[in-house]
Amino acid sequence: MASRRAAEEMIADGRVEVNGEVAVLGRRVDARRDRITVDGTPVGTDPGLVHYLLNKPAGVVSTASDPQGRPTVTDMVPAEPRVFPVGRLDAATEGLLLLTNDGELTHRLTHPSFGVEKEYLAEVEGTPTAGAIRRLRQGVALEDGPTAPARVSLVAPGALRITIHEGRNRQVRRMAEAVGHPVRRLVRTRIGPLRTGTLGPGEWRPLTQVEVRELEKAASASSPRLARRARPHDR
Ligand code: URA
Repeated sequence: MASRRAAEEMIADGRVEVNGEVAVLGRRVDARRDRITVDGTPVGTDPGLVHYLLNKPAGVVSTASDPQGRPTVTDMVPAEPRVFPVGRLDAATEGLLLLTNDGELTHRLTHPSFGVEKEYLAEVEGTPTAGAIRRLRQGVALEDGPTAPARVSLVAPGALRITIHEGRNRQVRRMAEAVGHPVRRLVRTRIGPLRTGTLGPGEWRPLTQVEVRELEKAASASSPRLARRARPHDR
């Protein structure tokens, strides 16, 4: 993440920790086992880790296998090393999905206490009124509890941009339904710092080291207290 000289400065400035202890110059680490952070953000040091960003088409399921024989997201990326989706999109939902063998990052992105922002474009039935949009923003009552405040805007008649940081089952569909505007089409257009860009439906690309770091930072930013707490390496 930095030149040798810059890394030494970071260490000298006390910004680097190894397994929760402030690192000292010359200390040896095992890149596979030790947990290294800079300013509380983990540094990806394991060369065996892969991270893919997939633009999932509708009709593809987010599980590793499907009893109904539908195509799965893991069919759309390289088979080796084996990767798993980070959270889920409904079969009918399109858009961005991360797949990785990075258990640490998966935990950080899916644990309820982190909550990286996810942005969706929802085509809905009818055109929500200002009142309906306000309700979506403030939080609507769902059977598993009220939703947290969300950013919601009407981008065209019948089209909402909705940004949430929870990841409850079918959340956007249930929110829209709760205010009387069932979703017709749902596309996830952003996960934290990652946007669709030029990735067409069914296409995937590996994340760059910088993007992995930005994602980790986004997860840390959403829960600084937890993110800074040293946890045992659990891969
Ligand atoms: N909200 C939904 O309703 N479905 C998804 O797939 C993702 C978020």
